[in-house]
Amino acid sequence: MTDTTYAALPAVPGTGEGAPGDPLRIAVIAASVRDQRMGRAIAEWAAFRAAPAGADSPRADSSDTGSSHTGSSHTGSSHAGSSHAGSSHAGSSNTGSSNTGASNTGSRSAGSRSAGSARADASQAEVDLIDCAETDLPDDGLLRPGASAGTAVSARIDAADAFVFVTPEYNHSYPAGLKRLIDWHYREWMFKPATVLSYGVQGGLLATEHLRGVLAELHVVTTRRVVGLSRPWTDLSPAGYTPPADIAEAFDAALHELTWWASMLRTARHERPYAR
Ligand SMILES: Cc1cc2nc3c(=O)[nH]c(=O)nc-3n(C[C@H](O)[C@H](O)[C@H](O)COP(=O)(O)O)c2cc1C
Repeated sequence: MTDTTYAALPAVPGTGEGAPGDPLRIAVIAASVRDQRMGRAIAEWAAFRAAPAGADSPRADSSDTGSSHTGSSHTGSSHAGSSHAGSSHAGSSNTGSSNTGASNTGSRSAGSRSAGSARADASQAEVDLIDCAETDLPDDGLLRPGASAGTAVSARIDAADAFVFVTPEYNHSYPAGLKRLIDWHYREWMFKPATVLSYGVQGGLLATEHLRGVLAELHVVTTRRVVGLSRPWTDLSPAGYTPPADIAEAFDAALHELTWWASMLRTARHERPYAR
């Protein structure tokens, strides 16, 4: 596909974006759509970690697209404060963490110095959980290169300053439903940062590496730190997903990077819009 396929590089920033100084908006995107999936529970935990401390407890309500919204922003918002009871060891990240069998980390106070600084950076963040399983996309027969005809979640992706992709590894990549969500949008992703919380038998990092390559085509910067959850089903209970402390710390470190990029790139989109 050559650049000539695209009529023009779309204008950024998008019309739905906040301006420098506004609270950052983080979209947590749940990739899996299976009936039996655990991805939603992990995405809710990720939204909880990304939301500023003290945010409201989660609501189970939904928007017109069916996505979960909690908190108060017009983008949807934060999931926070759910109870995460009980935990066993599981998982590791590529940040050097290893299985420790550490205690429950559902609490926001869990974590480390990096958790504190991540919270500081994201202290004004608003979090929107966009769930692929609850997002109806148009028929792929209508798909065009670089074109976003507008979907049920276009405005929410557009409004986001940063993305957290929560994805399982399916046959050494990420699920097809996530690829459809990506392909149905274009300008909405551009010049924004993303991090990835993957999971699978061995952390699901092959999904992450495939995702990085795709996101690069959309001018999305991915954080150096990403987190891979190995066999996270061992940390799943009726109360939700509760990883050990090292996982929470690793994810907070990734969020710290993410919010730095989000702030920098939002300023750049406004003050020095990209031109080729
Ligand atoms: C179609 C399919 C392919 C899978 N392929 C892999 C794989 O390549 N590597 C891996 O670690 N796990 C793989 N798994 C296991 C998933 O990691 C595990 O089922 C996980 O819970 C899937 O996430 P979900 O529950 O959110 O759908 C696969 C599962 C499915 C359904």
